Amino acid sequence: MTLHERLAALLSAEKDATATLSNAAAFLFDEFDDLNWCGFYLFSRTENCLILGPFQGKPACCRIALNRGVCGTAFSRNESLRVADVHEFPGHIACDGASRSELVIPLRGGDGRPFGVLDIDSPTLNRFGAADQETFEALARAIERAVDLTVRFY
Ligand code: SME
Repeated sequence: MTLHERLAALLSAEKDATATLSNAAAFLFDEFDDLNWCGFYLFSRTENCLILGPFQGKPACCRIALNRGVCGTAFSRNESLRVADVHEFPGHIACDGASRSELVIPLRGGDGRPFGVLDIDSPTLNRFGAADQETFEALARAIERAVDLTVRFY
């Protein structure tokens, strides 16, 4: 089975958002080398910001304002952001001082609007190339499909 098929199979039995995103974070963190943080920030309509969701890695900041940091910027633009050197990204939010590069991918509902982001950090400069971005975007699509958006979002 491909990585994508194994993730889809892992997530197929459960629709609960917390359970699905928890296992997705654990799967990605376990499968890929050279990561120090991997997890989700989820949009809260009532708070109008991103709030920390299931993750693997060191404790992280709980809230990220829209348009702030790599996560808030990727969410607000509704596009992936691949940052080769986080120190060069204006407004980067340093949760784990070991992070050197970062990839953030919006998670979208059926209407195309984002409901959160997948955030992946590495302690290595320029860890993520274009091919990695494509791989993680495809995995993010599998995660979106596995989350029942009617339960916790919108
Ligand atoms: N670096 C992120 C904040 C989240 S941590 O990496 C877990 C950002 O700038 O949005």
